[in-house]
This record gives sequence, structure tokens and C-alpha cells, in this order.
Amino acid sequence: MNPETSPFSPGQPVPIEFFIGRIREVERLRGMVRASTQGKFRIGFVSGERGIGKSSLASFVRYLSEHESQVAGCHVFLGGVEDLNEMLRRTFDRLLKESMDKPWHEQIRNFFGNHVRQVGLFGVTLELNLQESDWSTLAHDFVPTVRRLLNEIKDQKRALFLILDDINGLAGSEVFANWLKSTVDEISTSQQKMPLCILVVGLEERRQELVSKQPSLARVFELIDIAPWSDDEAMDFYRKSFDAVGAKVADSDMRQLVRFTGGLPVLAHEIGDAIWRTAEGPEIESKEVWEGILTAAEVIGRKLLQPQVFRAIRSERYRSILRKMSGAPRMSFGRSELMGRLSDNERKVMDNFLRRMKRLGALETDPEVKGGYQFPNLLHMLYFWIESQRISR
Ligand SMILES: Nc1ncnc2c1ncn2[C@@H]1O[C@H](COP(=O)(O)OP(=O)(O)O)[C@@H](O)[C@H]1O
Ligand SMILES: [Mg+2]
Repeated sequence: MNPETSPFSPGQPVPIEFFIGRIREVERLRGMVRASTQGKFRIGFVSGERGIGKSSLASFVRYLSEHESQVAGCHVFLGGVEDLNEMLRRTFDRLLKESMDKPWHEQIRNFFGNHVRQVGLFGVTLELNLQESDWSTLAHDFVPTVRRLLNEIKDQKRALFLILDDINGLAGSEVFANWLKSTVDEISTSQQKMPLCILVVGLEERRQELVSKQPSLARVFELIDIAPWSDDEAMDFYRKSFDAVGAKVADSDMRQLVRFTGGLPVLAHEIGDAIWRTAEGPEIESKEVWEGILTAAEVIGRKLLQPQVFRAIRSERYRSILRKMSGAPRMSFGRSELMGRLSDNERKVMDNFLRRMKRLGALETDPEVKGGYQFPNLLHMLYFWIESQRISR
């Protein structure tokens, strides 16, 4: 079918009407934002595996808050950012840009005064023109600056909802960790109200890294950990998406889809989209569903995993091991158990294979079981599993 009409959006934020599940998390985050509109400062950390829907959740809550609570939202993507000044630059730049078509734009612009520069061919893009030393000052004066800014826009907006997404690079920065801690302290020791809600978004490992730089941060965040979708939620997702374009998938095929998705939204979109492209017409056949699943695995291997993992798994030497690796999707397995299933020739390369996968981060030793291995996350597990299914057919 025509890719243009696909109801799936791999690699893109999900359209609001296709947002599935996460009811508890949405409620908690909404509660935090609501509290901030009453002047109570809130800070949370949204964690979860890659592709589980952290950014989508944050963006969905932002949409709701802007529409129901008169909140100014600002979603900053910090992938690759490693220092505090750059983080602040991106944050305020984003704020300025996102306000452009909003009624409070004038106030924001006035706030930055002659530091705002028009750029781009037609001068339609705005940029903040500040020196490195200005950003350092801003880091120091962050709390009063945000207060003043909120005061400027208070007729239109009751609070600021700041999403610091993908803090991977920053999590290793002691300067950032200390700044965050002292910002939180400054707010909580002052007697004034602070209508600000900050949401930090990243992998759980990053949160731990951040806390290791500044241990007292451990108590600061409200934690929101995103779990995989339940089977019902995944089913709901596929149903809604296929229904929206009048496509039909048999119940038994739908169950297969749910099984292969493993609760990972990122996989659901890839699989759905691959099926859509494969399908000849709106009555989708089992064969097309299956083909879609296998194509999606290939796409995921290329797009989301390290190229070396993808290549190694595709290499002749390792394929026969892979074929025998798993009958059912599982997060862990034992070395001896795998060995028992292999031929002499396969055994010879097995340890190489395991070592190589470990080095590439696609496998880890299971700390609880001697000779045990585990996948570092769902995505790797599902990918290995789908690949093993592909070869076994
Ligand atoms: N609740 C959801 N409902 C529908 N699709 C979702 C949902 N959460 C995430 N997705 C989709 O899954 C993919 C990965 O989501 P994303 O938010 O980027 O994950 P993360 O930020 O955790 O890596 C995107 O294509 C997104 O559209
Ligand atoms: Mg993200």
C-alpha cells in the first residue's frame, strides 16, 4: 500500500490521537504540572529504555497542559549536549522559538530585549545573541531569571513546563549535576512561589550517572519509569491504527503482532509500517503480516542498533548459533544451555560470538546466574529473537 497513507509513524512523535496507554504516568505528570501552576516547584525524571516512549509521553503531557492549564511548554532536545552553558543556550533558544506563534511571544521577546537577532533568509528565524560569559551569568542567575520571565508572561501563562529531553551527554557532567542541585535548593529554601515544572528525560543509567556525580540529587526527583506496553495496549495500538485507514487484520495475526512487539512502541511503529508497505490491499493477509515483521527487524537492526551487531548477526559464521538461540522471546539464557543445543562446529565459535556481542553491548553477563547471559534491553532481545525466527524458517 502507499507509504504516504500509512497510519504508522516510525521515528516520529506519535500524533495525539494515536497515543496509547500510559494512563498512570500521564496522571502523575499532569498532577505535577498542575501543582506548578499553583506556585509549587516540581521536578521529575522520566526514565525507560530507548524507544519505549519517553519523549512521546513528555510531549503528550505538554500538549495536555498547554491546552488545559494555561502552561507554557518548552521541550528541549539535548542529545549530544555536554555542558551547562550549551544546555541553557538551547533551552532559552527553544523557548523563544516555540513562543513565536503564541500570544505571549511579545513578552518573551521583550524579555530578551536586544539580544534577539533575526536570522535566516527572510529573517523569520529568531536567535539569541549572547556571549559565553552571559550564559555563565545566566547559569548563576537561573532562578531569578526564570522568575522574571514567568512574571512577564503571567497574564497569559501560569507556569512553565520545561522538558529537558535526552540528557545523555549532560549526565556525565559534574557541573550540570551541581547546578541542578543548587537550583533546586535555591528554589526550595526561598519562601517565594515558583510556578515551574522541570522534567528530565533519559535512560535510567543516565539518572544513576547523574546521581553518582551529585548524590543528593537522588532525593530530588520524582521518578516516572515507563514500562513496556501491556499486550492489551499493544493490541489497542494496532487496532486503532489499522481501523483508522480501514485495514483488516485477522485476530490470530494480531496476536502474533503483539507477541513480536514485546510492548515496545518503537517496534510497533516499525512493524506496522512495514506491514502497510508490504500489503497489497486493505484485507491484510497472514503472509503479509509475517513479511512485515521480518522487514521491520531488518530496519531496526540498521536504524537502531550498532552496525557491527547487525553485521555480526548477519554473518554466516554466527547464523547457525542464532538459529538455535531461542525458541521463545526471553531476556536471559545460560551458556551451557545454549551449548547443549549446538553442534561441534558451532560450539567452536560460540564463545567468540558471545564475547563479540558483549563487547558491542548487545549482551551482558547475568550477575545473578553463573554462566548466564542477558540482553541489555528489550530492543536487543526482540531483535535477536526476530532474527532467529527469520533464519529458522
Ligand atoms: N504511547 C504511545 N502511543 C503510540 N505510539 C508511541 C507511544 N509512545 C511512543 N510511541 C512511538 O514509539 C516511537 C518511540 O517513541 P519515543 O517517544 O521517541 O521513545 P523514547 O523517547 O523513549 O526513545 C515513536 O515512533 C513514537 O511515535
Ligand atoms: Mg526520546
